[in-house]
Amino acid sequence: MSALPSRVTVTESSSRDGLQSLGAFVPTSAKSGLINDLSRTGVRSFDAVSFVSPRAVPQMADGAEVLAGVDRVDGMTLFGLVPNMKGLESAVAAGVDGIGVLTAASDTFNERNINATVDESMHRIRRILLEAPEHLVVRGYVSTVTHCPFEGEQDPDWVAHLAETLVEWGVHAVFLGETIGKATPAHVDRLLDDVLDRVPVEMVGVHFHDTYGQAVANTMTALDRGIAMMDASAGGLGGCPYAPGAAGNVATEDVLYLLDGLGIEHGVDVTALAEVARRFCADHNLTYNSAAGRALLASRDLG
Ligand code: HMG
Ligand code: MG
Repeated sequence: MSALPSRVTVTESSSRDGLQSLGAFVPTSAKSGLINDLSRTGVRSFDAVSFVSPRAVPQMADGAEVLAGVDRVDGMTLFGLVPNMKGLESAVAAGVDGIGVLTAASDTFNERNINATVDESMHRIRRILLEAPEHLVVRGYVSTVTHCPFEGEQDPDWVAHLAETLVEWGVHAVFLGETIGKATPAHVDRLLDDVLDRVPVEMVGVHFHDTYGQAVANTMTALDRGIAMMDASAGGLGGCPYAPGAAGNVATEDVLYLLDGLGIEHGVDVTALAEVARRFCADHNLTYNSAAGRALLASRDLG
């Protein structure tokens, strides 16, 4: 039975997931500028930066400076991704509103990504949660929820166990990261059967990549199950430096167009957001990758 939410929070990941894999350094002012421009289109929730090793991900070395350049507006939530205690300290010092803590379902991906087994990263998360200041909104990311690039298909029951544990330990939401964009709606349905058995739907968010072109369909599957939090990236920017070949996140424009068609509120001007993303891509020599955005801009330009 469909349980579509009436309102959805779309978190904008373009300045973090969208940029983290790029070789050419995007200037700090351009990263802050992207967040500010997106905020003017109505976006309020940002997966803005990460506080990770600058040797592991040089593009994210300027997280604190990026946040310092953001014009704060009412209702804005700026998240920083933190892999360890050092990340937490930097994120708090930089004035984040929320943090994302992370593990993967598979050991091999987790070891390559954050140099820890799943068990080790869960222990790191436990410590971060015990130390994190009360005012922070905490999201727990589980990556490789359906497929690992190295170990193949993942067990939904195991993912559900990790999600439930994170909730027991105090995260405010669990985000299911489909890191390599390989899942179809059938995989997502099977995963959600197990996860929603153990975690209340209001605490579950989804983070889809679009490598196989399934991300909008997967988003619809999640909406059908009542999920009302999702990450997306303007212009379809994104990828993970430790997931070879993985494409960008689902394009925010494609998600917003879907939500508009379903009559689900989200608070963002989709055409204005498409314009921001297209300009950013042109300025930084990046491919603009939203079908809905291209079509909306073309029909607006036709008058
Ligand atoms: P490590 O080598 O085990 O860490 O890396 P370490 O504690 O041994 O420290 C090594 C060096 O890193 C030291 O510097 C530390 O100070 C420094 P040195 O003394 O050698 O000069 N360091 C740090 N610097 C800044 N901030 C920190 C930090 N921690 C250590 N927080 C570590 C472990 C986790 C640090 C590393 O592997 C790392 O930074 N990994 C991050 C990788 C990453 O950012 N991946 C992409 C994000 S995840 C993602 O995209 C998935 C997601 O989108 C969901 C999905 O799609 O599924 C969220
Ligand atoms: Mg991702």
